[in-house]
Amino acid sequence: MLRSVMQGVGSCLPERVLTNHDLAKLVDTSDEWIVERSGIHARHIAADGEKTSDLAVGAALAALKHAGMEANSIDLIVLATSTPDQTFPATATTVQARLGITHGAAFDVQAVCSGFIYALTTADALIRCGHAKRALVIGAETFSRILDWTDRSTCVLFGDGAGAVVLEAQQGDGTIADRGILTSRLHSDGRYNDKLYVDGGPSSTKTVGYLRMEGKEVFRHAVTNIAAVMDEVMQEMKLTPQDIQWIVPHQANRRILEGTARKLNIPADRIVITLDRHGNTSAASIPLALDTAVKDGRIQRGDLVLMEAMGGGFTWGAALARW
Ligand code: UT7
Repeated sequence: MLRSVMQGVGSCLPERVLTNHDLAKLVDTSDEWIVERSGIHARHIAADGEKTSDLAVGAALAALKHAGMEANSIDLIVLATSTPDQTFPATATTVQARLGITHGAAFDVQAVCSGFIYALTTADALIRCGHAKRALVIGAETFSRILDWTDRSTCVLFGDGAGAVVLEAQQGDGTIADRGILTSRLHSDGRYNDKLYVDGGPSSTKTVGYLRMEGKEVFRHAVTNIAAVMDEVMQEMKLTPQDIQWIVPHQANRRILEGTARKLNIPADRIVITLDRHGNTSAASIPLALDTAVKDGRIQRGDLVLMEAMGGGFTWGAALARW
């Protein structure tokens, strides 16, 4: 059976760091409030003129280097973003051109904070049906561009960045011992699309708009939906939380991660947390966290890694992989 094996991971963060103390000079907030309610201490913010594609290319090059592969061997790019360079063409095609690739396919996926899980699942499906041999799956965002910097309830939570993985088609035995993506589950429920949204768009206002969120509502659904989809994946694979070495979650709020862990009885030290330094980077947060834990040696080859996310739509999902 064909498997999509993760052969490399990389990330890219803008140079500028914005701390909670810096934010307290812009809006009526405090380091204490932000840390207590979200766990975030700082986030990276793109420089003027620094685009989502710039961060995506940086992450892609780092992932290719880690995999020891040439850009030209890639025949699929799936890029998850809600902050594309332009309404069209897809930012993935800009990345493709900047990597010097002229074959294969490149397109964007839009599932907000669940974007990386959606992109990974899409690329995995295309690899397993023989459509591609080597894929770059990228999550890249410049959320700073769609934040209302006068709204303290949202602007303190998000940051910019990108992460990428290289997937390669390899034959596996079709058992849970295989390396690669073992299973994934995607969900959405559009009845909630007014709980977390951007108040603009090409066909409604002809503007880009700003992010709006009913934080408490999103929080409530996040813990329930994330725990349910993680449970769904574990049940399908006949696993218990004890069998999984690492949880690499979307990084929205430390309390969501702790609440989900409590619900599923997962030891807190198995959860990779980077939101303290990155904030919520939407589709980029999972590959950014994965890169951190692979490069610092926590995630070792052969480890079972469960990734999960929930975001605007609502969308949510989880993917289980053996690194
Ligand atoms: O990635 C996609 C998914 N997104 C999420 O998962 C985010 C989910 N939601 C959350 O993480 C949390 O709901 C927040 C961090 C957004 C907010 O935490 P909360 O504990 O739900 O606070 P709250 O919204 O109920 O606000 C509590 C108080 C309010 O004041 P009053 O009405 O109690 O007087 C807010 O006005 O905190 C106030 N507040 C702030 N105070 C200082 C809201 N934002 C701030 C702020 N600084 N930045």
